[in-house]
Amino acid sequence: MKVAIIGFGSVGKGIASIIRDKGLGITVTAIADSKSAAIDNSGLDIQSVFIAKENSGLCGKIGLTPDDVISEADFDVLIEVTPTDAETGEPALGYIRKALSSGKHVITSNKGPVALKYPELKELADENGVELKFEATVCGAIPIILSLQNGLAGNDIKRIYGVFNGTCNYILTRMADEKLTYSQALLEARELGYAEADPTYDVMGIDAAIKLVILANTVLGYKKSLEDVEIAGINMITSESLQLAGEDDLTIRLIGEIDCEKELLRVMPRVLPKNHTLVVHGTLNAVTAETDLAGEVTLIGRGAGSVETASAIIADLLFIRKLNGRCA
Ligand code: HSE
Repeated sequence: MKVAIIGFGSVGKGIASIIRDKGLGITVTAIADSKSAAIDNSGLDIQSVFIAKENSGLCGKIGLTPDDVISEADFDVLIEVTPTDAETGEPALGYIRKALSSGKHVITSNKGPVALKYPELKELADENGVELKFEATVCGAIPIILSLQNGLAGNDIKRIYGVFNGTCNYILTRMADEKLTYSQALLEARELGYAEADPTYDVMGIDAAIKLVILANTVLGYKKSLEDVEIAGINMITSESLQLAGEDDLTIRLIGEIDCEKELLRVMPRVLPKNHTLVVHGTLNAVTAETDLAGEVTLIGRGAGSVETASAIIADLLFIRKLNGRCA
């Protein structure tokens, strides 16, 4: 199976390193970053692309664009992992439309296009007989979409709630455990590659809200947008408030919730007992689905990170290969 990767930041590098190290029968024919691209239809030497990026900041030839990659490279699946723009979804939306229209499968970790245009993109994929997969958009490594769509099929889902943003969880954990200030903890989360390119998306609760919109529209069949979500972030939370809560064995977590009975979506900091199931640490995410048949099901796992997010992309890739028989 041949893949082209657009975006060579934290997630793109994670995917490339997994394919370099594990093989998995996957050939990477193109990699593009924001300023350059490398294309070799017989298969790129991934390590050389890493070295070029390290030495020059570029993964390939200046002037070659993601659009060139989609038009010129030979690939079965486009892996689109550029930074999210929650307002327009661009430029990712254009790349995804172009690839789907050319009969290529698309896997994306990009929340903007899926949150904004899922019905249109799904229709385009169906018209062209290809797959559009986006497991990595919600909760990183946790197979939340797969679990809700398949593992809990036949259940009525009453409520979905939990920790959807690894950066906020990391910041709250570091502030409570190490008494770091909000700014110090945010800086760490950025340096470790957990935060969005624009970290205000994380700390203001927007990233978690986008994930709720994606789940609502793709799994529950709602037609929600970001404006429909009641949102408060963690930017006003101080180390002192966490210390005070801690004295009563409580702590604070940013909790996203979909109330399926009222079709309500909200994200806000909540005070929870320290031993609550959803009080996970570091970049872990934790999501509980309340259902009629299975009762409560909670999934916990790494919600952010390079290889962790890439894990969801690789799973989507192998799913597409299985569904379509082995591509050349
Ligand atoms: N910035 C996001 C987070 C990355 O911290 O959860 C994963 O979506």
